[in-house]
Amino acid sequence: MRAVGVLGLGALLAWLPPAHTDTFSALRSVRQARGNEGRLLRRLRAYLREESARLRRLSRFYEKVRALHQDPGASVDNPLLAFSLIKRLSSDWPSVVYSSEATENSRALHVGFQELQRELPGAEDLDGAARALMRLQDVYALSVKGMANGFFQPTSTDRPPLYSPGRRVAYDTGDYYHSIAWLEEAVSRFRLSYGSWNPEEERGSLEDALDYLAFSYFMAGNISHALTLSREFLHYDPSNQRVTRNVAKYEKLLATHGDRVGPPLQRPNVTQLQNRDAYEELCQGLGAQMAPERPSHLGCSYETNGSPYLLLQPAKKETLRLQPYIVLYHDFVSDAEAETIKGLAGPWLQRSVVASGEKQQKVEYRISKR
Ligand SMILES: *[C@@H]1O[C@H](CO)[C@@H](O)[C@H](O)[C@H]1NC(C)=O
Ligand SMILES: *[C@@H]1O[C@H](CO)[C@@H](O)[C@H](O)[C@H]1NC(C)=O
Repeated sequence: MRAVGVLGLGALLAWLPPAHTDTFSALRSVRQARGNEGRLLRRLRAYLREESARLRRLSRFYEKVRALHQDPGASVDNPLLAFSLIKRLSSDWPSVVYSSEATENSRALHVGFQELQRELPGAEDLDGAARALMRLQDVYALSVKGMANGFFQPTSTDRPPLYSPGRRVAYDTGDYYHSIAWLEEAVSRFRLSYGSWNPEEERGSLEDALDYLAFSYFMAGNISHALTLSREFLHYDPSNQRVTRNVAKYEKLLATHGDRVGPPLQRPNVTQLQNRDAYEELCQGLGAQMAPERPSHLGCSYETNGSPYLLLQPAKKETLRLQPYIVLYHDFVSDAEAETIKGLAGPWLQRSVVASGEKQQKVEYRISKR
């Protein structure tokens, strides 16, 4: 574990490269969430095991009774077999049909989930995570396609979520600047694999994405594109009354007013726009750059500073820059020590703030904790 002063720049997302030590507090919550999902997974496995055993018992009962019905020798004239038949009908069948086992299994699953529920992210967290994705995109000037194509994790086999962040932003905040970019990408992926790619976790389909994308274009004043997309929607789902009405409405609007031509879509204004732009420039490496340091001035040394402890184990210092003076101490704490410190500090972390007049203020684009 290296100790180096880093300007805190936070992004909440789990799949940032691990080198971003500054995001640890947000990553910590994501790791916690992952641990909780691991617990849920174990509970689901137990449920599946119980339910499979229950279904196997049902199958055995079914096979047994079916065999009796197919056996020509099993005549009801046999008093013993007649007794068995009556017993089955009066006692076995009711207990099979009214078994509470399924209910008990699902109750155990519910209880297991409820025990964890308080620690699981909620709808608000999901909205926050969707907005964080857009923010990440803005701050580092990333394209949605690039993000989806594995900018963060080239080896990821996960299907990137595109539809639901786009939809959330479109509907909840009216931010069509972002929703269009995200839904465009979602639509083009859904189109590529129509019928085969419908990941459950996305809970969306080509039709859904087209619907929201058309709506976003309409709200942004681009009626002709909203019309094109809605027609495409009807190609897949011709009986949809609402979209049929929308198509008629768009045609009428186009005939009377045409598209609303205005300036290109802008990001929604948030507080301190000026501040935000400067901040983003820095993040994108467009701000002031430090002059490169001449390597001959830099070096590594053992530091004891007259301390008896450090005489036994000197600090390993690497000089990174002279102006401003930046040094890196290697092996400053062990990984285990660092984890302990993080664990102790975690509960005390607060959202980072920026100066606002004489006060401090939380802002949308600054979401790290310190
Ligand atoms: C509407 O959107 C389409 C697709 O993005 C674009 O090609 C077209 O130029 C836009 N039209 C107007 C009037 O903005
Ligand atoms: C956003 O704020 C800037 C600066 O205050 C202003 O010039 C611009 O017109 C605003 N844009 C919108 C879409 O409100």
